[in-house]
Amino acid sequence: MASHNNKRVHIATFGCQMNAYDSKRMAGMLAEMGYTEAQGPDAADLIVLNTCSVRRLAEEKVYSYVGELKRLKREKPWLIIGVGGCVAQQEGDRLLKRLPHLDFVFGPDAVTSLPELVTEAMQGKRQALTKLGPPARPGRIIVPAEPGLRAMVTVMTGCDNFCSYCVVPYVRGRERSRPAGEVLEEVAALVEAGVREITLLGQNVNSYHDPDSGLDFAGLLGRVNEVQGLWRIRFTTSHPKDLGQGLIEAMAGLDKVMEQMHLPAQSGSNRMLKAMNRGYTRERYLEQVRRLREKVPQVALGSDIIVGFPGESQEDFDQSLSLLREVRYDFLYSFKYSDRPFTKASRIEGKLEEEIKSARLVELQALQREIGLEEHQAQAGRVEELLVEGPAKHGRGLMSGRSRAGRVVNFSGPPELAGSLVMVNVTQGRENSLAGELLPATGEYKA
Ligand code: 5AD
Ligand code: SF4
Repeated sequence: MASHNNKRVHIATFGCQMNAYDSKRMAGMLAEMGYTEAQGPDAADLIVLNTCSVRRLAEEKVYSYVGELKRLKREKPWLIIGVGGCVAQQEGDRLLKRLPHLDFVFGPDAVTSLPELVTEAMQGKRQALTKLGPPARPGRIIVPAEPGLRAMVTVMTGCDNFCSYCVVPYVRGRERSRPAGEVLEEVAALVEAGVREITLLGQNVNSYHDPDSGLDFAGLLGRVNEVQGLWRIRFTTSHPKDLGQGLIEAMAGLDKVMEQMHLPAQSGSNRMLKAMNRGYTRERYLEQVRRLREKVPQVALGSDIIVGFPGESQEDFDQSLSLLREVRYDFLYSFKYSDRPFTKASRIEGKLEEEIKSARLVELQALQREIGLEEHQAQAGRVEELLVEGPAKHGRGLMSGRSRAGRVVNFSGPPELAGSLVMVNVTQGRENSLAGELLPATGEYKA
């Protein structure tokens, strides 16, 4: 397609890892059309936004970003602007009406139609593709030219859980698992291109179910574990109600599956968990954590907590604080509740004031910082295997890598170590990272 030659694209990605994955695929498809990457939106002939609507704040960011592009389009009338992702799905045609400088809108299941959307936009067609369900064009395996050490692979899309606050089931549609063969093929292609660590993605990986063979997620992990040349496997997200013994055993028994699990609790109060339609109680959640830690003692646990869900009393909130103290998470993402379209919670009476939500968030985050630091300090003296990523973020000549549990460890060592596995002795725990000392003669890892 000659008309796309010498053109530059800027892709702006908001939201979760699922969007990061889709943006990589978009970049791959556009590269095949002749697009190269622009250094920022100002230098682009095509701007694609991959948007998130999971919380109100995320959605507002999208509108302000698109608003600012109006000026660019006035300066460069040939500029093409497309909006994809969850806001696109949620708003559809309304976005085209509301934003006259927009050329096209496409939902998460229309990612593979991006090339046509761009070509047709060049011919002056404005359209919104927001049909959910199996994509019109089958997904292809797209491997970026320089994928790096770590990559993501989607194993399932959509969600059937309908947590009462969550827009995801409406904008991502019903759960659909990818055939295991396709997942394995993509993993193998990435490994061939130099990737050493794969994160398997899904809104709820525990309900993975190979449409052909019925293989479950633990079984899939077993198959991915066999891929030659792959060193490490992570996955996200696990729903606490579906965390089965099979997955726990897989984490304990499969050498490439890292000891890290994101197990979002959302609240520590049974009353709130019920109103959120989470399908478990605090006691059941704690039981899952206990079973997991029994088999995988070194597992690093992560969670999401929502503060200020409609009707959340001080007592309910205290239960979330006490859950943090009881579980002692390594990673915590916490959010103020916000109303989302279509959701049951948005129609509940008894919304909390913004100030109460903000105060609770601050208190929860302060507690987590304390716990996180203590947990990090408790790592001192441990010997850890690191996948070395490169120079440490804040320089000072240090190198940086991640432990099996996913913690960032900085240490002094030569730059040639990037891309290899090394052993370090942890010397100190800080708030966001650990300090370590390289241990000698660690040798090459043989997969
Ligand atoms: N308000 C606040 N947080 C939300 N999340 C999802 N929906 C909402 C909402 N309406 C949070 C949940 C989820 C994470 C991805 O975002 O904690 O796990
Ligand atoms: Fe949303 Fe609940 Fe599905 Fe997670 S499990 S995507 S919170 S509905």
